[in-house]
Amino acid sequence: MKPYIFITRKIPETTMDELQKIAVVTMWEDEFKPVPRKRLLEEAAKATGLLTLLSDKIDEELMDQSPNLQVVANLAVGYDNIDVPYATKKGITICNTPDVLTDTTADLTFALLMATARRITEAAQYIKEGKWTGWAPLLLAGTDIHHKTLGIVGMGRIGEAVAKRAAGFNMNILYHNRSRKEEVERKLNLSYRSFEDVLKTSDYVVCLVPLTNETKDMFDENAFQTMKESAIFLNASRGGVVVEKALDKALTKGWIRGAGLDVFREEPIQADHFLLKHANLVALPHIGSATLETRMQMARLACKNIENVLQGLIPPAPVNG
Ligand code: DGY
Repeated sequence: MKPYIFITRKIPETTMDELQKIAVVTMWEDEFKPVPRKRLLEEAAKATGLLTLLSDKIDEELMDQSPNLQVVANLAVGYDNIDVPYATKKGITICNTPDVLTDTTADLTFALLMATARRITEAAQYIKEGKWTGWAPLLLAGTDIHHKTLGIVGMGRIGEAVAKRAAGFNMNILYHNRSRKEEVERKLNLSYRSFEDVLKTSDYVVCLVPLTNETKDMFDENAFQTMKESAIFLNASRGGVVVEKALDKALTKGWIRGAGLDVFREEPIQADHFLLKHANLVALPHIGSATLETRMQMARLACKNIENVLQGLIPPAPVNG
């Protein structure tokens, strides 16, 4: 009998051709809404493998009820939705989709920086609403990017790719990471600083850390108060690293100039969310890796991760060994 695989969201059929040769595959039929928890538990209970999204909680409850589960392949580089230590204890292989999304996510992070600095979304809205009555010296004036100081918090693959882009804009680049990366520093001409120093001296603070117990809530009132009043904060990692009420206060009281967010604590956020009232906040619906090319590659890699585990091979992107 072929193993049973459940895919928790609609992905292009062509990306799972190979997987379908060796497994019976069922896919949740909705492209936008997450699979309800009850259905996920029912499917997991029968499954050898799951292909999941970051909105699916893979926890003790699910794993305890899934006696055949061998592999969970997350369609993301982040895997904070999965209890990895517990999976390891149960002998379940967890996989992710690194590398294929690095440049795409760095492009989006830089686009978010530029959109916030140069007020691009506000300007686009302005013209569509018929407000443009004439050229004026300070109309929609933003702030420069070139030759400014960029502080990257989290120097992983995406951090490096953002630094490369910033170098092309002649930015002075600082970074903070839980461990120093001297080779990367030399290669990309970066300066390592404490978290506090990065906050104090950067014109742009970009957060690219994974969500862990250590990084949760790291951007709190104290962090925003430490930044320059002219600073712009950007988050393209996970919403949980930011205390949103603190950011709201920072934008309201002018502790910082503006913010660009691709991620939120609760996703999707509602249109009446308190952060969205700020004109100096650019908000995007978690589209860091959202290009057709990259999403296809992510889906193929996630399927390949499952295929390999089913065939007793090492998957291309294991998270737990
Ligand atoms: C990731 O890969 O972790 C992104 O946030 C989802 O595309």
